[in-house]
Amino acid sequence: MPLRTAIANQKGGVGKTTTAMNLAAVLAIGGRRTLLIDFDPQGNATTGLGLPKDPARGTMAAVRGVVDGVLSPTPVEKLQVLASCPDLVEAEGLLSRKEGRERVRAALDTIGADFDEVLLDCPPSMGGITRAALGWVDRVVVPIQCEFFAMEGLTQILSVIEQVRTGENPRLELAGVVLTMFDPRLPFHQEVLENLRAHLKEKVCRTIIPRDVALAEAASHGVPVVDYDCLSLGAYGYLELGKELARHGGEATR
Ligand SMILES: Nc1ncnc2c1ncn2[C@@H]1O[C@H](COP(=O)(O)OP(=O)(O)OP(=O)(O)O)[C@@H](O)[C@H]1O
Ligand SMILES: [Mg+2]
Repeated sequence: MPLRTAIANQKGGVGKTTTAMNLAAVLAIGGRRTLLIDFDPQGNATTGLGLPKDPARGTMAAVRGVVDGVLSPTPVEKLQVLASCPDLVEAEGLLSRKEGRERVRAALDTIGADFDEVLLDCPPSMGGITRAALGWVDRVVVPIQCEFFAMEGLTQILSVIEQVRTGENPRLELAGVVLTMFDPRLPFHQEVLENLRAHLKEKVCRTIIPRDVALAEAASHGVPVVDYDCLSLGAYGYLELGKELARHGGEATR
């Protein structure tokens, strides 16, 4: 059985896709057979890994129950993608119904069966798609951007995670909240970090993702940051996050 991890936050532009793509890439480079499901109609993870948005093979096909010929290879050997396309907006309605969620879960069970890790990049909303993702995964990683309102946005997603856990997916765990686009030179960023740690304790990942233009540049070249500039701070951040979140836990690797 693969370990299934959703990357979710209803807030836009917090680093979900950057985290999903780069975490998936480091897990694959680390030897795990990895599947990245682009569950966002914007398709940023799809284009960020240099793939076309194709409604016939990809997440939209899986939502309709298709399981064969839906995966796309990527520049990273052990990483495959279930690509998105704009038609995926239709999935919001389909997945808000129980039958729709059951059909996509059955399809994803089959598609994901041969992988060690499955990551899902969710859209910036708490609609049918994100709820279907949370209903299917083992755990969720919540990226948050270092800003004053970070805690407020978190309260909403944490309560949705709790609702899903007490409802359709009792095994759902919060793997961690990851601070992204962090600038250690800004005292304000340090304050946000301290505030988060005071409230969420060990649920805040030890690894902090720095602000690093290499992450945006890599996506514009259609490759993960480790392929674009493996010595960059962004690459180092996601390698560390991969180690911290790996199935064996982080302690043994430090
Ligand atoms: N650590 C970082 N340093 C610098 N730029 C970053 C970093 N993380 C993300 N970015 C950039 O910030 C923008 C938003 O990131 P990203 O697309 O990953 O967020 P998102 O949460 O997936 O957004 P959406 O909610 O629209 O799906 C992108 O242009 C991305 O390249
Ligand atoms: Mg995104």
